[in-house]
Amino acid sequence: MVNSDIYRMGYHFMSPANWINDPNGLIYFNGEYHLFYQYHPYSPEWGPMHWGHAKSKDLVYWEHLPIALAPSEEYDSGGCFSGCAVIIDDKLMLIYTGNTYLEDGSRKQVQCIAESKDGIHFQKFEGNPIISDPPLDGTMEFRDPNVWKHKESWYMIVGSGKDGKGKALLYKSINLFDWDYMGYVIESDGSQGQMWECPDLFPLGEKHVLIISPIYDDKTRNTIYMIGHMNYETCKFTPEFTGVFDYGFDNYAAQSLLDDQGRRIVFGWMDHWGSYLPTKENGWAGAMTLPRVLNLLPDGKLSIKPVPELSLLREKHYKYLHLKVTDKPTSLLGNIVGDCLEIMAEIDFVNCTAEEFGIKLKCPEGNYEQKIVTFNTFAGQIIVNRTMSNKGDSSISYSKIRNNLESLKIHLFIDKSSIELFIDDGRVTLSNRIYPSKNRLEVDLFAKNGSVNIKLMEIWKLKSIW
Ligand code: FRU
Repeated sequence: MVNSDIYRMGYHFMSPANWINDPNGLIYFNGEYHLFYQYHPYSPEWGPMHWGHAKSKDLVYWEHLPIALAPSEEYDSGGCFSGCAVIIDDKLMLIYTGNTYLEDGSRKQVQCIAESKDGIHFQKFEGNPIISDPPLDGTMEFRDPNVWKHKESWYMIVGSGKDGKGKALLYKSINLFDWDYMGYVIESDGSQGQMWECPDLFPLGEKHVLIISPIYDDKTRNTIYMIGHMNYETCKFTPEFTGVFDYGFDNYAAQSLLDDQGRRIVFGWMDHWGSYLPTKENGWAGAMTLPRVLNLLPDGKLSIKPVPELSLLREKHYKYLHLKVTDKPTSLLGNIVGDCLEIMAEIDFVNCTAEEFGIKLKCPEGNYEQKIVTFNTFAGQIIVNRTMSNKGDSSISYSKIRNNLESLKIHLFIDKSSIELFIDDGRVTLSNRIYPSKNRLEVDLFAKNGSVNIKLMEIWKLKSIW
């Protein structure tokens, strides 16, 4: 890695070097948060998957640990693919997919288990695989086990797909090693992809939430969630509401854990299959999103908010009350410069006459300026603009905001090559990687053809954890 790496982030989880993708095996164990992840330790490209490992006491500062799983057996010679972690008799168990390549180039995927007493060194079970063939409802694309306990039994869902429909296949066990197939808990309604990666099913309040990462016919992927009910008698999950997990481009394969405070916390892989990743030139690729807490809102929708522990990162603070933003080019924020920033704002929509307004970043040298977050009041849209990226994807992501808003709260995190936006109590999130050509950026506000009042705006410079 080169020191002049302007993309290396300040307060996001990244591996020390090389390629990472999905979060795996998220668990709270012996008073610490454990984060495993898909890892190729030998290059910044995807390759035979290992499980990287790190732990944290506060979800902010991370300690890197030795690799937890590496391909070593015939059944996982092509990679230790994604999976989960559970605790049984004080032991930490990892349940993962063993991937192998067959002579005809196709893949075989089986479910495997490994255990650890100290939470650091893992031993694969001699009787692996614990599930060696997909059921008739699935195919050889059969991966990413997610396991939990309900009453006296263990349950596992595995992602698969058949006949053009993604499915979450359900298994039941009394001991974590012998599993019976119970049918699929739910399959795609026809529009939700042909293969489901990384299913995660868990109770939240009075409901259950299912997070899945479908692959569609055109090979595109995204992450969606369903809120509904799990019926353990019929072994079916019935969704009542389906939503987009993230309106940005870079939050895939999200997984959750339950912590000692009863909080449901998720991380996603903050990149995307097929994205051009300029960080590879500097020997690394991939990061985790910031940790987020999930809650149900009074109207039954999902709220996704950054964990409060992130306030540990805050350094210099700026506070503004009643800022009137007009189309005159004045620097309202007094040239705050930085590339690790947290911004919170409350916007008054009642008196807003601007067609659009938002946050812009300026590069002092060369008059370079970009509007990164724009609220289009006519269209009722929030736009995160990545055209400032001089490298990588330059696409624009957007999301509708609720109609008839009187005010809107936004919460934005900028970390060198990433931008995460949380809107309106976490109803909408947009996570994107950006690759600006400069790391000295000034934050400012703009409005077009009218004005807007910012009731309150707070900005913090954030410190680096690395
Ligand atoms: C999702 C995924 C999983 C698989 C892993 C391989 O991003 O494709 O389905 O287990 O990545 O690295």
